[in-house]
Amino acid sequence: MARRIAVVGSNMTDLVTSIIRMPAPGETLEAPEFSMGFGGKGANQAVAAARLGADVLMLTKVGDDVFGQSTINNLKDNGIDISHVGTVPGKSSGVAPIFVDETGENSILIIKGANNDLKPADIDAAADDLKKCSLILMQLEVPLETVYYTLAFAEKHGIETILNPAPAAPDLDPSKVTTATFVVPNESELALLTGLPTGTDDEIEQAARSLIAKGIRTVIVTLGARGARLITKDQSTMIAPVKVTPKDTTGAGDAFIGSFARFYVETGELEPSLKKAAIYAADSITRPGTQKSYATAREFEQFLTTQSA
Ligand code: RIB
Ligand code: NA
Repeated sequence: MARRIAVVGSNMTDLVTSIIRMPAPGETLEAPEFSMGFGGKGANQAVAAARLGADVLMLTKVGDDVFGQSTINNLKDNGIDISHVGTVPGKSSGVAPIFVDETGENSILIIKGANNDLKPADIDAAADDLKKCSLILMQLEVPLETVYYTLAFAEKHGIETILNPAPAAPDLDPSKVTTATFVVPNESELALLTGLPTGTDDEIEQAARSLIAKGIRTVIVTLGARGARLITKDQSTMIAPVKVTPKDTTGAGDAFIGSFARFYVETGELEPSLKKAAIYAADSITRPGTQKSYATAREFEQFLTTQSA
């Protein structure tokens, strides 16, 4: 059976401003550059997987505005199945004003707009197609009830899942996500999810173990420039970072997750897929923008050659 990936998640239009610094309240400040791009954690992960050759189905909602139509076109252009992408009348599409400083660090505001309208009923409507997928990816830019519902759906049909609990959501009920196959938080999301400190490697390990104790099979903690840590019942393995000069780190976590999904679905291997995903994410931060910085399979093969040289 075809190893199809589904993403049940968000889309945004990224409004990216490069800044020297943020203006103070009441201050007007000139910024050097602006550009627009396609973003949203769900769409980013879908696009990373699709650019690498994965067969991807996306469930998402756009508004009836210019951003919505171009978002749909963009998903289509990336070869993603958009038959379950809906347009919500009278709502704006999701947008994300993003500020990137000279070190490549970003600050992001999200306005979810139509993403708030992705509901459990949409999962039911797409059930026949979702059942044919081997892996479903979720993030937290759509209603939590939809995430819980999708996890239950996947569990019922024996479909593996990746939950990226981002952005950090204080309302998330950890007891409702224990059936996820993979949970992929960063340090602060892990802290919020577990109520435990994550300031040191030991603390990260313990916090991740508390999730394993609750039934989650695999926790992958993303650590930014420090790489990632894979924690299962009998394993704790560091996924080494790949050193690059960062230009724009926006969406690097999504590049990691989307590419991991592709490599994992292709090979069924955990650790090698994570190592390759770390390289894919590193490559994306050497270029500006979110989705526009994600390599295709061919470009990635080239980058891999430079890595092993
Ligand atoms: O993870 C990066 C993404 O977060 C951006 O593309 C922005 O749209 C926000 O959703
Ligand atoms: Na980038």
